[in-house]
Amino acid sequence: MPGARVAILTVSDTAAADASADRSGPTIQSVLTQAGYVCRHLVIVPDDEIRIRTVVLAWCDQGDIDWIITTGGTGFGVRDRTPEAIKPLLEREAPGLVHLLLSASLQSTPLAALSRPVAGTIRHTLITTLPGSVKAVQENLAALLNAGVVSHAIELVR
Ligand code: MTE
Repeated sequence: MPGARVAILTVSDTAAADASADRSGPTIQSVLTQAGYVCRHLVIVPDDEIRIRTVVLAWCDQGDIDWIITTGGTGFGVRDRTPEAIKPLLEREAPGLVHLLLSASLQSTPLAALSRPVAGTIRHTLITTLPGSVKAVQENLAALLNAGVVSHAIELVR
């Protein structure tokens, strides 16, 4: 959706200690900018539920972000807490988007079964949680942008 406003949150202990280690956040920014989206924020936080929630809620409170994308912290690692941080914030869950992400990703790798994405809306903002690798981000974004799925969702939520 040309002009839709996006905020990107990289969730990673490693990237929080050294921003140059974040390759997934800039990948999302690049893919979405090419698709006509306006990337307003790119923030990095460690795998910490409170830190994740604080940033996401601040963006939703601003009321000028259409789509929040997180990357990282969705897996089975003991520090992976992104789904636990986001799920309680969702006012409406979007299981169809979760299904889309997992089914598209499973066509690339069986390891996609180790991602635990959540998706939904908080007020007028759509939120999706992607895995942390560049490859996974590219594959997940391709699925979300295909056939205007996300742009239609944003139109409906605004
Ligand atoms: N999804 C896609 N499309 N492509 C991938 O390569 N990697 C998986 C999975 N989802 C992958 C994917 C792997 S190896 C893991 S461990 C999980 O995402 C969780 O990643 P995260 O903990 O970095 O969020």
